[in-house]
This record gives sequence, C-alpha cells and structure tokens, in this order.
Amino acid sequence: MTNRKYENVQEAEDVGFRYTPDHFYFNQPGKSYVTDMAHYQRLYDESIADPELFFDQMAREFLHWDKPYTKVKWGSLEKGDIAWFLNGELNACYNCVDRHAFQTPDKSAIIFEADDEKENRIITFSELLREVSKVAGVLRSWGVQKGDTVGIYLPMIPEAIIAMLAVVRIGAIHSVVFAGFSAASLKDRVVDAGCKVVLTCDEGRRGGKTIHMKNIVDEGLNGVDSVSKILVFQRTGNANIPMTSGRDYWWSEETAKQRSYLPPVPCNAEDPLFLLYTSGSTGSPKGVVHSTGGYLLGAAITTRYVFDIHPEDVLFTAGDVGWITGHTYALYGPLSLGTPTIIFESTPAYPDYGRYWRIIERYKATHFYVAPTALRLIKKSGESEISKYDISSLRMLGSVGEPISPELWEWYHEKIGNKDCVVCDTMWQTESGSHLIAPLAGAVPTKPGSATVPFFGVDTCIIDPVTGMELKGNDVVGVLAVKSPWPSMARSIWKDHNRYVETYLKPYPGYYFTGDGAGRDHDGYYWIRGRVDDVVNVSGHRLSTSEIEACISDDEYVSEAAVVGIADDLTGQAVIAFVCLRDPDLNAGCGDIETSMGGDATPPDFHRELVLQVRREIGPFASPKAIIIIKELPKTRSGKIMRRVLRKIVSNEADQLGDLSTLSNAEAVPDIMDAVKQQFFSKLAH
Ligand code: WTA
Repeated sequence: MTNRKYENVQEAEDVGFRYTPDHFYFNQPGKSYVTDMAHYQRLYDESIADPELFFDQMAREFLHWDKPYTKVKWGSLEKGDIAWFLNGELNACYNCVDRHAFQTPDKSAIIFEADDEKENRIITFSELLREVSKVAGVLRSWGVQKGDTVGIYLPMIPEAIIAMLAVVRIGAIHSVVFAGFSAASLKDRVVDAGCKVVLTCDEGRRGGKTIHMKNIVDEGLNGVDSVSKILVFQRTGNANIPMTSGRDYWWSEETAKQRSYLPPVPCNAEDPLFLLYTSGSTGSPKGVVHSTGGYLLGAAITTRYVFDIHPEDVLFTAGDVGWITGHTYALYGPLSLGTPTIIFESTPAYPDYGRYWRIIERYKATHFYVAPTALRLIKKSGESEISKYDISSLRMLGSVGEPISPELWEWYHEKIGNKDCVVCDTMWQTESGSHLIAPLAGAVPTKPGSATVPFFGVDTCIIDPVTGMELKGNDVVGVLAVKSPWPSMARSIWKDHNRYVETYLKPYPGYYFTGDGAGRDHDGYYWIRGRVDDVVNVSGHRLSTSEIEACISDDEYVSEAAVVGIADDLTGQAVIAFVCLRDPDLNAGCGDIETSMGGDATPPDFHRELVLQVRREIGPFASPKAIIIIKELPKTRSGKIMRRVLRKIVSNEADQLGDLSTLSNAEAVPDIMDAVKQQFFSKLAH
C-alpha cells in the first residue's frame, strides 16, 4: 500500500498551537521517583536501547505473575504480530484488588462522589474484593467463560469498576459502552463484540437529572438474541423498571447468593483484557483490543512515573469510565498501584462550580486529571468558586484528550495549582493504552502547550506526510508516529485484524501511525497539533466525521453530507454539518438549528430533525452545532470531498483556502461562502 497523504496536515495548526517561547516551568523538583531530566533521559535511553531488559525489570517490579514469562518482547510493526511477556500468566483483577486487600485491607480503594453529595461512600480494598468476587460469581453461574465478552453500560458509579474487575477476574473480556451513547450505538457495539451478558443499572443520576439507563438497554437490545442475561444494579431504586423474565436479574438479589471470595483465573499475558470501541476516519467504530499483561504494565508504570504517585496519594481522574481515560487512570493505573481512585458521578457545574474543588478538599486529593474542556467551562463561568476551597493537597494537575492551549495551561498552573503544581499535559489514545508523550512530574521541566517528551519505551518520531520519510533532528513538523512496539499498545481490532494493520501500520510501513499532526521543537519537545484524519474531538469525546455524515445522509431529503470540526471556545472543537438536498431546487429554508423556520419543501423542523437523528443514532455529545444547506460539496477530480475548504470557510478563514487546483467544481465555492454567511455567521452575530 502506498503512503496516504493527509490533505489537512498543514491546517492541523488550527487546533494545535504555535510554539511558545522557551518558557520552562519546573515544579515539585527533588521529590519524585525520577529525579530530574538527566535521570529521565538515562532511563528513556535504556528503554529504547534494550526494551527487553528494561520492561523485564518493570514487569517484575509492578505486576504479580502467576507464571513467569519466557520472552519479554516479540513481533514487529511491519508484521503487526506484536506480543509482550510471552507465556506469562497473570490476572489483572488480582493485581488491582487481591494483593492490596491482603496488604492494606482497610485502605480506600474507591472513593465515590455521588451526584447527590449525601450518597457519597468509600469502598476499601477488602470490601472491593468481596463485591468483585460476588459479581464474578454471578457471571460464572451464568456460564460466562474465559474469553467471552461481557457488555457494561453503567454510569460513573463504583459498580462500573466492580463490574469491569469481576469480568476480568474470571478471564472474560469487558466491553464498556459510554453511558452517553444512544440505544442504537449500544446495540451496534454489543452485537459487534458478541456479548452474551450485559451489566447495567435501573437509572443514572447526573447533574440532578435522571438517565433512564435500563430503558435505553431495553430499546437497544430489543431483538438481540445473543444477549441472554442482563444484570441490573439498583442505582436509584425506581420500582417501575420493567424486567424481562428469564433475561433480567437484580444485582443485589443475584450477588446475595454468591460467596465473598472467588479465586481469580490466571490469564495469558496476551489474552484480551478488554475491548473499547473508538471512532476512526472511516467505517463503523472499531473494537480496540487490549492485552492483559502489556496493557496493565503500561497503566501501572505511567501512573507511577508520569503522575509520580506515592503510596499515600489520592488520584482524582475526572474522565468517564466509558472512555480510555477512565479505564487506564480511574481503574487499572491507580488500583494496580494500590492507590485510591475518586469516582465522580456528576458534572463540574453541579450543584455549583465549586464541585471539583470541594471533592479535592474533602478527600485531600493529590492528583487531579481532567480534559481541557472542563477547565474552559470553569474558567468561563466558575472561576470565583476556586478560592473558597482548600485545594493545597494537590501536587499534580493532568490534562488529557485534546490540546491544551498555552493560555489555559498557564491558567490551570496559576489558578488551580497556585504555581506550585506540575501540569502534566498527557498525549495518548485509546489505541496506545497509556501515555505516549507526557512529562514525568517533578523530573521533566514543562512548557505550556507542549506534551513534552515520550514515555519510556515509546520511540516517537515525526514523519513527513507526503514523502513518508522520517524527519530527523529538531524543529520539524509532520505527523506523529512510533517506531517500535510498546507494551500497552492495542494488539488488534476485534474480529478484524486486517483493519488494525491497514489503519495503524500500513500508512507508513514500519511505523505505528497515530493520526495526529505534531511538531518537535529545538529542545526535542513535542507539540501536538490535532488529528490529520477525519476525526473530531468534541469536549474530549472522539468522533468520526464519517459516522455523523452517514447518519445525516440517512434522511430522506438529504443526498450528501460533509461534517467538519471547527475550533470552539468551550468544547475545543464543534461539529458543523454541510448538507446537500436530494432535490437541489427545494428550499430548505435557511437557519441554524435553533432558529430554523423551515422552508417550502422540507418539513419545518428539518434542521432539528437532522440533529435529533444524530442524537438518536450516536448520542447527544455528537450533535452538530449547525447544519448548513449547500448546493454542492467541494470535491476533487477523483470525487473526494475537500473538507479543508469547508473547514476554512466556516472558520472565517476563506482567505486561506490554499490550493484549489485539484477541485473539480471550484464554482461551488462562492455559493458555499454565501450559504455560510447567511445560515451561520449571521446567526452567530445575534
Ligand atoms: C487527542 C484520549 C493533544 C489526539 C486519551 C489523539 C490530544 C486523540 C491529547 C485520542 C493531548 C489526546 N494533546 N491532543 N494531550 N490527548 N489527544 O482515543 O488527537 O479518545 O489522537 O484518547 O485525542 O483520543 P482518545
């Protein structure tokens, strides 16, 4: 296969940031496991020069093995046959629960901060072992075997963590579906994963509102015969939840029948630990497959060294367990180290903007990890709340999921960190399993806006997207790739290994391709510029433009659609949909989704209907901010949509359209500009 050329790599700067001057911060020096930059550099060089030796030491130190491995590293990026810790056996649940329950039974494992603060509770390691064993017992009594997949559709409550650990305790594979996904998205994922059993709850609570979880499950799994059993946790205890006899069972009743200890099942290091669906540039969501040994090691060592976690620390990861951040840094990372993890059910604005700071004060959290989108919200609306709380327990402030601008970085450092905390901008992905590029707190000096330097064993490089050649040296810009396998990298796409190879390993043969544009400055620091493929990042949620396009194109009036992401003050990026009608002479009215009056031919609520369609099919977080009706999409001679042109126009950068010589219908451009002016800019002005 030939190298792929990403047309928008040059524009990736729109969502990334230009280099700031050499403005280094060095917070909390001298207290960390890795003492300084020279120490980091020595360890990093060792990890690249002799990964077998380096990760053998790490795997022995951080994990409990039931059976030792016979070889540390195997396979290549050329072949896509990657394996770590061959023939070794371990159980991830044992590593996260049992060994700590034996040593520190009364230590907090899960600190639950409920939507309503009156419902907060703490679960110790010994209690966690009991709860997990009981749920594992239920699953086993239902015939769930090693290697089976189990679906989990639960909000941010301790039972989500308990469910995940129970599944891996018996060697099964969990597939968590984010609780914000619609019934249709849940169904797609459960069917693709082949889940026999699903764990959910009656209702969720978020920001004082009720989410009808069980209803969504019933709707999504209606007619899905492969799911034979559903375990329902009573989160709110609503007595009117319909239960299908022979399929649905109450969590409390079933667990009451089980013993409080069930032995963990040893798994091969390469046995899948979990699947997590994520959006790519094309096609349906991919079930990213993570391994038991390599993944768990990556989670443990990045949590230890990037966050610099010590035994007495408390980690507050404010990401949802439905995404990779929740998997790695709310569950597997902290619990594998025996570190208490704060599980937060609510939102940063409920009941007021002081919520995060109250949590940190209450539990003396030392580490706080959040997406920039939440920080932007607080900066805009809730800054005055910060000083009301004592958050001096904090040592590290993490950022994840999207680029953090230098301005927001400085704000975080000053307003939340009192200029005394390390800001760790961590760049990674669902597929990487754990941090790829991030400063080690207390060791690596930071620069606002840069994710800094690669983690141990991650041999990052910048590739020229056009020639496919690696750009050596410093001061280079291109796409971000990795030169050799690291332990926690995804091993496959569920039931489609070929797609794994095509997506990540073929674009630049011999390299793992991240999909991101990036630069390396004169200090060797990395600056992430955003996706160069058709993936948008809304409030840290990863979405594929093609998925949204497919959903909009299903509408009977729509012939074609193109979706682009544009910069947004609050959500990082926002989704804008360009739509062509089947009958171009129809007047669909003009207007954004809020003010549309409809037109002569399409239904009056046409815009709203398209938005609802996206909400129903994918989930509310994927809703387009605007729908703009145009006559024709800009296309290349080979028929490819030039999204760059649409993105530039709707970002008010029509003067920077760049080279249009490959466009087959350049005459469409002025029409698009007019449409954007009338249907989008004029509405923004109001
Ligand atoms: C983006 C989230 C800039 C990037 C952990 C990546 C970031 C995608 C950062 C993965 C960061 C994540 N700076 N961009 N610190 N962290 N990204 O799979 O585009 O939901 O490819 O994993 O988010 O999103 P995912």
